[in-house]
Amino acid sequence: MALLKKGAHGGDIYGAARELHRDPAELLDFSASINPLGPSPRVWKAITASRHLLSHYPDPECWNLRQALASFWRIDPEQIVVGNGSTELIDVLPRALGIHRLLVVHPTFSEYAGAMKRAGGQAEAICANRRDQYAVPIDRLCHVMETGWYDGRSIDGVVLCHPNSPTGQACTVEDIARLAKAARRRGLWLLVDEAFADYCPERSVLPHAASWPHVVVLRSMTKFYALPGLRVGYAVATQAVIKRLRQQLPPWSVNIMGQVAALAAVNDAVHARKSLRFMARERERFRKLLATLPGCIAMPTYANYVLVELPRRSYARDVTKQLRRKGLLIRDCSSVPGLNSRSIRLAVRTVQDNDRLIRTLSRLLL
Ligand SMILES: Cc1ncc(COP(=O)(O)O)c(C=O)c1O
Repeated sequence: MALLKKGAHGGDIYGAARELHRDPAELLDFSASINPLGPSPRVWKAITASRHLLSHYPDPECWNLRQALASFWRIDPEQIVVGNGSTELIDVLPRALGIHRLLVVHPTFSEYAGAMKRAGGQAEAICANRRDQYAVPIDRLCHVMETGWYDGRSIDGVVLCHPNSPTGQACTVEDIARLAKAARRRGLWLLVDEAFADYCPERSVLPHAASWPHVVVLRSMTKFYALPGLRVGYAVATQAVIKRLRQQLPPWSVNIMGQVAALAAVNDAVHARKSLRFMARERERFRKLLATLPGCIAMPTYANYVLVELPRRSYARDVTKQLRRKGLLIRDCSSVPGLNSRSIRLAVRTVQDNDRLIRTLSRLLL
């Protein structure tokens, strides 16, 4: 299992700006996949109107935000816990649920393995195949869940990134329901990270999470709601599971501006619809343009990023460095376990930004 390395995540505009001696605002960040339309306009108003709250502790219960999320999803607020980004919840899950050995489906987000390591547990890897465009090996996973054994030893659960980063693949609700059923029978945990599922709502299993024991669904306010700097995420599960998660969280981990902004964002259905319409259009246009670059393979995606395989004899590491010098940050995925040295992930940004990246990339690949 690869260790968490510096640079294991995208979005470090500050580090890049220091290295390039440039202002962070001059950089175009395709390495973190954030809604290119930005946060809801209601967020700015809500933050301005809440300035006076800065001199108080934040609400440790995140009461207003949990009420809003509960009515959005038509569930009980006691089935929701809010964290300092979904990263904080990923971090506490192994300890809260007593997970010592977790099966991770690669290639995927590195924090699941990171959290297991920090908790003194072990992450085991099962790999999706390139020839299947990295589709989740659902039958193999169901078999593991049904037996409770992987590689000759028992496991405590499986984590699915859904849709998966960086591949963009997503399962159907029926497939995840099969896994959830097996998890329940075996008493194993099924963790479903839906940080990007706002972009494929028809594939989300969140509406079932509150009634599926042994399943935890994670959501983030970072990507679709474009609030990465405020650090807000949440988990949905049965009340008993949520209670265990809350016991592991430090007090006041979610700051007041994060709570206020997330509340305003969740309540803006107009901006959400506009964001979804934009992404449905631009993602396909961008992917098609990428696929026209000689030798490039642009994978299908359910999220707001595209996994691209560069032409033979090109290296993701070199192309990432060359683009970086031009102020364009992309995610080099060559060190992601299960991917090859030609793999990069590109966020879908605005039409203008995407066209600039395509132009620059096509010149580099000549
Ligand atoms: C798949 C996935 N899950 C979770 C996270 C964590 O997001 P946050 O802590 O900002 O909610 C990320 C961040 O990159 C991610 O890519």
